[in-house]
Amino acid sequence: MSNVLVTGGAGYIGSHACKALKAAGFTPVTYDNLVTGWKDSVKFGPFEQGELSDRSRLDAVFAQYQPVAVMHFAALSQVGEAMSEPGRYWRNNVEGSLTLIEAATAAGCLNFVFSSTCATYGEHDNVVLDEGTPQEPLNAYGASKRAVEDILRDFGAAYGLKSVIFRYFNVAGADPEGEVGEHHRPETHLIPVMLEAIDGKRPALTINGTDYDTPDGTCIRDYVHVMDLVDAHVLGLKWLQDGKESRVFNLGTGKGFSVREVIDASGAVTNREVPYSEGPRRAGDATKLVSGSTRAAAELGWTPDRSTMPQMIADAWRWHQNGHYEG
Ligand SMILES: NC(=O)c1ccc[n+]([C@@H]2O[C@H](COP(=O)([O-])OP(=O)(O)OC[C@H]3O[C@@H](n4cnc5c(N)ncnc54)[C@H](O)[C@@H]3O)[C@@H](O)[C@H]2O)c1
Repeated sequence: MSNVLVTGGAGYIGSHACKALKAAGFTPVTYDNLVTGWKDSVKFGPFEQGELSDRSRLDAVFAQYQPVAVMHFAALSQVGEAMSEPGRYWRNNVEGSLTLIEAATAAGCLNFVFSSTCATYGEHDNVVLDEGTPQEPLNAYGASKRAVEDILRDFGAAYGLKSVIFRYFNVAGADPEGEVGEHHRPETHLIPVMLEAIDGKRPALTINGTDYDTPDGTCIRDYVHVMDLVDAHVLGLKWLQDGKESRVFNLGTGKGFSVREVIDASGAVTNREVPYSEGPRRAGDATKLVSGSTRAAAELGWTPDRSTMPQMIADAWRWHQNGHYEG
């Protein structure tokens, strides 16, 4: 079976990607330093503990497994942290990715799938965010991801590295079979934070800003189910294996939900009260991030049919109640 090197395979999205890769007939080899990931979530292939910046360790892993492709999820991804510790973000996400990209290229592994983000677009009032929208990130997290996109383009031109870059919108939900799920540390994502608040595991959810220029004053985001998202990655891998050109794809549904709408939907799905308070805006947050692209559907044949708000909340709630990681 063909090996795929999955950096960040012990994290939320990477672990779901490993499950999808295994189902598609690949062997996912997780490479992760467990800074925010969980050893317990590596269930679908071998685990190699290591740092993105450790070139000799990466060289040894490429030599041992001879992967046909890299799926690169490993990153630090908290906007608040990125605003207060930008150096850590540039070092981990950019220097680390550069080391990985150099190691892949040197090993002749020239198919590369990269987790980028809609945070690379920044704030664009009333503009449909498609892959041609100018990238003007508002924070060091988005800037670090845009920089890696640039590195991939340059390595494509110089060495023939082929990449599929996915710019995710907000990822939510969990494996419906409950083998893996979302468990960030610390958790800052709206839906799991809300579920923890509903369940009394944290005091209350704070809405970060209620004076945005949106119908109810709260930020609007586009949510995509993690299982749909990782299906796109398998399609992206096949795209590269078919010899197609490097390509950027947004992964979102085109539907925006305000924070208040997600709160209401969570109350309805769980049939519980959502405890929340209203706080000030958080630096680095855009008002509205909604995908306006149909490229992934048209070109990859991607159908995000699990990405309805009730389904994402129901799957996350099931994982929240039954699943957990210890190490
Ligand atoms: N979750 C979202 O909504 C979302 C949205 C847009 C983009 N993304 C991107 O998707 C990717 C995965 O996000 P996630 O939510 O699964 O995060 P996560 O924190 O659960 O997973 C990241 C994984 O990378 C590992 N890692 C980080 N730095 C590393 C390093 N230097 N060396 C080795 N391993 C390292 C962590 O231990 C962790 O297992 C990230 O690149 C993130 O920026 C996520």
